[in-house]
Amino acid sequence: MKRKTLIEPFRIKVVEPIHMTTEVYREEALQRAGYNPFLLHSDDVIIDLLTDSGTSAMSDRQWSAMMVGDESYAGARSWEKLFAEVSDLTGMPYVLPTHQGRAAERILYGILGGKGKVFLSNTHFDTTRANIEFTGAEAYDLMPDESYDAALYLPFKGNIDLEKLRASIAMHGAENIAAVIMTVTNNSAGGQPVSMQNMREVREICDKHHILLVLDGCRIAENSFFIHEREAGYDKKNYREIAREMLRLADVFVMSAKKDALVNMGGLLALRSSAMTEKCTNLLIISEGFATYGGLTGRDMEAIAVGLREVFDESYLRYRIRSTTYLGEHLKEKGVPVVWPIGGHAVYIDAQKIYPHIPAHEFPGQALVCELYKRGGIRCVEIGSVMFGKYDDQGNMLTARNELVRLAIPRRVYTQSHIDYVVEVFDDILSNASTVSGFKIEYEPPFLRHFTARFKPAPVLVDSEKQHA
Ligand code: F0G
Repeated sequence: MKRKTLIEPFRIKVVEPIHMTTEVYREEALQRAGYNPFLLHSDDVIIDLLTDSGTSAMSDRQWSAMMVGDESYAGARSWEKLFAEVSDLTGMPYVLPTHQGRAAERILYGILGGKGKVFLSNTHFDTTRANIEFTGAEAYDLMPDESYDAALYLPFKGNIDLEKLRASIAMHGAENIAAVIMTVTNNSAGGQPVSMQNMREVREICDKHHILLVLDGCRIAENSFFIHEREAGYDKKNYREIAREMLRLADVFVMSAKKDALVNMGGLLALRSSAMTEKCTNLLIISEGFATYGGLTGRDMEAIAVGLREVFDESYLRYRIRSTTYLGEHLKEKGVPVVWPIGGHAVYIDAQKIYPHIPAHEFPGQALVCELYKRGGIRCVEIGSVMFGKYDDQGNMLTARNELVRLAIPRRVYTQSHIDYVVEVFDDILSNASTVSGFKIEYEPPFLRHFTARFKPAPVLVDSEKQHA
């Protein structure tokens, strides 16, 4: 008999109490936080779907490995364990540990970047783009046009557009392309997977033009699951074999271990070139730490080494992707406009469709984020004009392409009943949609405003006033 309930493939040994709050309490908390959930106290949150980064629950094996962490400054046993694990997974002979993903990015793109250099990617994640642009280099995202259609089903919606890639190389000149970066899964494009076929073709193009190929693989295990399910010829291979095959197509691997290494902190940089490793190691020692610990403690390295094995466990990965899909499918059934198909680590919702009466410059995504917190104590993040909006020379706001909200699912943290609760909160969201109004920005910093901006509710205009607004 095919069973419907997907049970969590773990028993719970340690629990962290959730502080249950009322709607009145949350309304006040939201006001104090300037209607920006980043400024809430985490104790005031019931279900935290802000990010899947660094929020995993570690296993008993990871915790016990931490007890044997070797905290020696140089040549630590824990480093050797981590090195062996990463080198075996990637097939790369050089590995540098960093305190998180963006530190690996800063080192790598600090070496490869600079004025006049160009980076091409399926989609650069924010910190990737920021680290590249900080060096004076340029970063271009090259997704196929159809991948931007939120409702269209494509099995590998995270792929790079090969024609756009060839055209970009011709336009900028191969000698100016510092690297092609494949983000796997493609976080900023909804956690959508990249196919092995796409990666293979990118490798061929890079070989032809002697261009370096970087794989940002912080969710490579989740990507391997999708390849196993959706790509011809991969259903007999296990997830780790699929990841190893993909990694062998890359020259460099960057990873935020806070995702698929199932830990709360850590990053990795693995390379094939000894010359490039030497330059990176110099920067690592200046800014992170000695080459055998980077920004990590011995016990962190132990936990990463174990996590990198556990993440490929068949029951774990099936449960992981199924539970994200479960949330997405149930929301879709209710009529919530979700980005389709559901990605690996998060469900993305089109807030503009829920609130068609809120104009983009009054942030429908922020309105949904605030409603989810107020009605259900659920915290998540706006990915729309708060995050990506800019101003033109006259100070007019240029809004984002989409007004999305991301519900990111921490690994091994919430059970099916937590997720069912999230689904139920959406009943309230949908039935009250027409009464919700937008926001105005009260304070914003010059960069990355979504983290610290403060908002106030936009005045609700009656119809006669709208023409003059
Ligand atoms: N690359 C990708 C694809 C990421 O998703 C992230 C982080 C990073 C690099 C940077 O890693 O945070 O360890 O420095 N993504 C988090 C998120 C923050 O919420 O999606 P980091």
